[in-house]
Amino acid sequence: MADKIVIFDTTLRDGEQSPGASMTREEKLHIARQLERLKVDVIEAGFAASSNGDFEAVKAIAAVIRDSTVCSLARANDRDISRAAEALKGAASSRVHTFIATSALHMEKKLRMTPEQVYEQARLAVRFARNLTADVEFSPEDGYRSDPDFLCRVLEAVIDEGASTINIPDTVGYAVPELYGNFIRNLRERIPNSGKAIWSVHCHNDLGMAVANSLAGVMQGGARQIECTINGLGERAGNCSLEEVVMALKTRRDYFGFEVGIDARHIVPASRLVAQTTGFVVQPNKAVVGANAFAHASGIHQDGVLKARDTYEIMRAEDVGWSANKIVLGKLSGRNAFKQRLLELGITLESEAEVNAGFARFKELADRKSDIFDEDIIALVMDESVTAEHEHYRLLALSQRSEMGERPHAKVAFAAGDAELHGESDGNGPVDASLKAIESKLQTGAEMLLYSVNAITSGSTESQGEVTVRLQQGGRVVNGVGADPDIIVASAKAYLSALNKLQSKHERVAAQG
Ligand code: KIV
Ligand code: ZN
Repeated sequence: MADKIVIFDTTLRDGEQSPGASMTREEKLHIARQLERLKVDVIEAGFAASSNGDFEAVKAIAAVIRDSTVCSLARANDRDISRAAEALKGAASSRVHTFIATSALHMEKKLRMTPEQVYEQARLAVRFARNLTADVEFSPEDGYRSDPDFLCRVLEAVIDEGASTINIPDTVGYAVPELYGNFIRNLRERIPNSGKAIWSVHCHNDLGMAVANSLAGVMQGGARQIECTINGLGERAGNCSLEEVVMALKTRRDYFGFEVGIDARHIVPASRLVAQTTGFVVQPNKAVVGANAFAHASGIHQDGVLKARDTYEIMRAEDVGWSANKIVLGKLSGRNAFKQRLLELGITLESEAEVNAGFARFKELADRKSDIFDEDIIALVMDESVTAEHEHYRLLALSQRSEMGERPHAKVAFAAGDAELHGESDGNGPVDASLKAIESKLQTGAEMLLYSVNAITSGSTESQGEVTVRLQQGGRVVNGVGADPDIIVASAKAYLSALNKLQSKHERVAAQG
């Protein structure tokens, strides 16, 4: 039997650290369920001590996930570790992942601690965590840029204290494959008790080598766990992308020779769910999950694929979950068909009230759009008016007038808690006028960092528009997403969705801040 590679997904923790990618508890739950369906071995659900919101999200995920281990990150101190263990109490299988920086740069400039203090804190943190839970992972942050002699001492000590997974982060994406692989092999060879732990890779993508580095960590370094995220989401240039690393291992099993437990048919739905939830759009030429990943535009390629698929295809689109824009539901579909399709898409709505709200939105959409695709359904249930009836701001009505050569004018009605507000404004275009109409009532002063429109399903102007708005206010950056066949309505929904996130009280604190 071949060795197994443990797939550790950190979309909900490291992925969420991308500016603007923060998610609500409900959004995290949806994604966690999809990760379980994908059969990831470990789901890093958040950083429980960083905020009440993160604590509640980890707790909620721990309560429902049964087939994957649920993990929480914790700095190497008793308070963080206790919070993590507390949030994970309801899990079927849980892990505490504790970390402290070990590079000279981070210890001196960021932590202002001596190496001896860091050594001691790492040891005591793992000891403390092991008293609360059996499964403890330790990461020396900025591990790849740390002094190997010092790292060997720290890692030997934490293994002695009971850490069963040792993760070597390339925190700043500085590694190159051969050197990273050798770095891990060298540590494993020098540390006398290294055989008692599973070694893990955690690579950031600043130089575009996160997947290659992770695979080198496995092949040359002997690592057996890969930390990764859906769509490569993560700080700065992101993390090792789950879909790429998993499909490399599966497609080139002849070379790598490892088992991976992932059910790849759920990869594309997971990618869409994460993109639609965070507003981080997937580039069309992205491997495996990009819209063009299986498209053959040139005549020579099309001809070849029609004659024999493997002339130009090394993977089958359906094996990673592409469903070729299938029409799934229409105007006459009933509530049961809607519910069934949600199940097939891996979406579980929390309550019957949510199913009813979702179905009502579906009927409304089917009246305006003849064919409803999977992407439409995902967008529809991600809409806050379905998943979070208690959201503060909700769009009630919008009308706008625009004529070539005239300045557009918009009127917007929206709920703000129990109050109903009516605003109007003109603007450079109808979208600008609509958002200014909202601002005329709220005066949030939030700065818009991004406005983007995408067609949810390609190939027709009948498609719903999906709008992403990124706002910044008081140092916080949030994304709002809204979908509607009318892109002006979608824009107003996206704007209100971002404002909902800005006004939520859940603050995040920076790791090791
Ligand atoms: O990149 C990093 O160093 C991390 C650690 C907290 C594991 O994300
Ligand atoms: Zn990281």
